[in-house]
Amino acid sequence: LQHVPLFQELSEEERQGLAPLFTEKKIRKGSVLFLEGDAGEELFIIKSGVVKIYRLDETKEIILALFREGDFFGEMSLISAGLTRSATAETLEACTLYALKRSAFVEYMEKSPKLCLKLLETTMERLRKANEQIYDLTFLGVRSRVMKTIIRLAEQHGVPSEEGLLINIKLTHQQLANMVGTVRESVTKVLQEMQEEGSLSIDKKMMTIRDLNAIKRVIR
Ligand code: CMP
Repeated sequence: LQHVPLFQELSEEERQGLAPLFTEKKIRKGSVLFLEGDAGEELFIIKSGVVKIYRLDETKEIILALFREGDFFGEMSLISAGLTRSATAETLEACTLYALKRSAFVEYMEKSPKLCLKLLETTMERLRKANEQIYDLTFLGVRSRVMKTIIRLAEQHGVPSEEGLLINIKLTHQQLANMVGTVRESVTKVLQEMQEEGSLSIDKKMMTIRDLNAIKRVIR
């Protein structure tokens, strides 16, 4: 648990107290962990793998967040008593998760101001990102939105490589479109243009940003 940012401020003793309350779960790729509207019973922490948080209507999907190792999710319905899951969670890769029951989570929050502050800090970061998404959807065109999504992915999942910044997560054009709020064809077109311009390269479905400043310059 010491590698989980949420628990980093806790003392070793506090972490020792918390650890036995978690159950470890191994989940296959493509499994739905819970559906929007379900009653929330547990908080999840990702030990390994990637989880997609999304909302659906009949034909479309919007991806709200991608979470990976060290991230937590499922706290909203635990904290807002009486409200259900605000979105659906599905594994994008095989995952190992730690699950913490609502009662244990709430009890620990009541005991630990440090944990509450850390949770708030992360929530504020997520709210900032959500505000950014509202801004982008309101004011930016598709090309800029695709580029901003790629930059955001690089900030979250980027690892430096020889060619630039490798985005260490495999996404289909459809999944990218579902993050941007557009159709697959538009994503394919923008990615093609970026490769021609030399700002991005794609190898085995993995993107590498080759010229971050060039991308930032054209966003408006
Ligand atoms: P909960 O509502 O219990 O179930 C869905 C979870 O998705 C939610 O808790 C949060 O952990 C997460 N979530 C929902 N909306 C967002 C968002 N906009 N950004 C990041 N995470 C979110």
